[in-house]
Amino acid sequence: MSDLFPKWTNRLPLYAAVSGVLAVTSVTAAVWYYFTPKYARVGYQPLQPVTFSHATHADQLGIDCRYCHNGVEKSWFSNVPASTVCMNCHVQVLKDDPRLALVRESAQSGRPIPWVQVHKLPDYVFFNHSVHVNRGISCVACHGQVNHEDEIRHLQPLSMTFCLDCHRQPAANLRPPNQVYNLDWQPASPEKQLADGTRFMKEWKVESLENCTTCHR
Ligand code: HEC
Ligand code: HEC
Ligand code: HEC
Ligand code: HEC
Ligand code: HEC
Repeated sequence: MSDLFPKWTNRLPLYAAVSGVLAVTSVTAAVWYYFTPKYARVGYQPLQPVTFSHATHADQLGIDCRYCHNGVEKSWFSNVPASTVCMNCHVQVLKDDPRLALVRESAQSGRPIPWVQVHKLPDYVFFNHSVHVNRGISCVACHGQVNHEDEIRHLQPLSMTFCLDCHRQPAANLRPPNQVYNLDWQPASPEKQLADGTRFMKEWKVESLENCTTCHR
């Protein structure tokens, strides 16, 4: 019996099963790929537990980003402030306003406000805030003009191409260090930007980091 059929036919059911699995996986992978946050991310604007507005606080009141995100120039991580920071002002300002009920409660109990994180990279990507902001890269490059938003919305793709576009030519993006937290700053002209950027690259020894291990370690 075994001589009538070549040996490989015994494996036919196996081949069928394997290719079936592969077909299913690739469809799943494709669906997964196009529906992962990477594609859905730009425009992502979750409802937040408190109607906190950057336009009010950063733009109108002129509070510096670092008053609330005080880790941003010291560590890889840019923290969201504790409610006690809000209460520095809101013990007096709008002190009985219902929009701040959760903030008062959180400051009292110590339970953090459950803010929904908007910008997030996959775990296999390494990132560091302080390296960027201490070398003249402004928040606006990656987060857009947050200072004019009432609610935070994901404005930049934060994809690999997006990161590499800047890493290839930092000179076009390095700004004077005292303008990093001024999201409305514009260079006088593209020529001046390139001239200053090229000088900053030399002075600060900034490299064009394109190696895979820069971001995937
Ligand atoms: C008075 C405090 C305060 C100030 C000042 C402030 N922020 Fe925020 N920021 C917050 C809080 C609270 C959140 C979380 C709630 C939200 O997303 O709106 C937040 C969220 C963010 C996020 C989104 C984080 C995420 O989930 O992805 C970015 C980006 C951001 N801030 C950038 C800035 C920049 C840039 C400045 C300066 C122009 C600034 N912030 C000034 C309090 C502040
Ligand atoms: C430096 C002072 C200061 C800090 C710190 C501060 N606020 Fe405010 N906040 C104000 C002022 C002033 C107003 C405007 C009051 C008015 O409209 O009369 C305001 C308004 C608000 C409002 C009403 C909505 C609006 O945009 O007018 C909310 C909600 C609010 N703040 C939440 C927060 C939260 C949450 C934090 C902490 C992450 C915070 N604030 C930190 C001063 C501050
Ligand atoms: C080079 C790009 C880049 C720059 C410049 C940048 N950020 Fe971010 N930021 C990111 C990325 C990417 C994430 C998501 C990080 C993660 O997944 O852990 C993020 C996350 C955040 C968060 C969310 C943290 C959390 O846990 O909810 C805040 C707040 C924030 N950034 C504030 C700022 C502020 C303020 C500045 C300027 C002083 C700034 N960022 C500059 C890329 C950048
Ligand atoms: C607008 C310009 C710009 C953008 C956008 C940008 N970077 Fe950078 N990045 C820089 C500069 C400038 C440096 C500093 C290079 C140096 O020191 O030689 C840097 C350095 C780094 C480093 C090195 C950190 C270290 O420990 O030395 C990492 C990792 C990194 N970037 C990751 C990212 C990722 C991930 C993204 C996208 C989410 C991103 N960058 C987007 C300009 C940018
Ligand atoms: C400046 C930072 C940076 C550098 C350098 C970099 N990557 Fe990435 N890479 C990213 C980011 C950010 C993502 C996540 C993209 C996303 O979520 O949209 C990513 C995603 C990936 C993915 C997953 C792709 C996907 O579609 O899911 C692979 C594979 C990858 N990178 C390989 C590489 C290789 C190979 C190199 C070197 C040639 C490299 N990366 C260099 C930032 C970088």
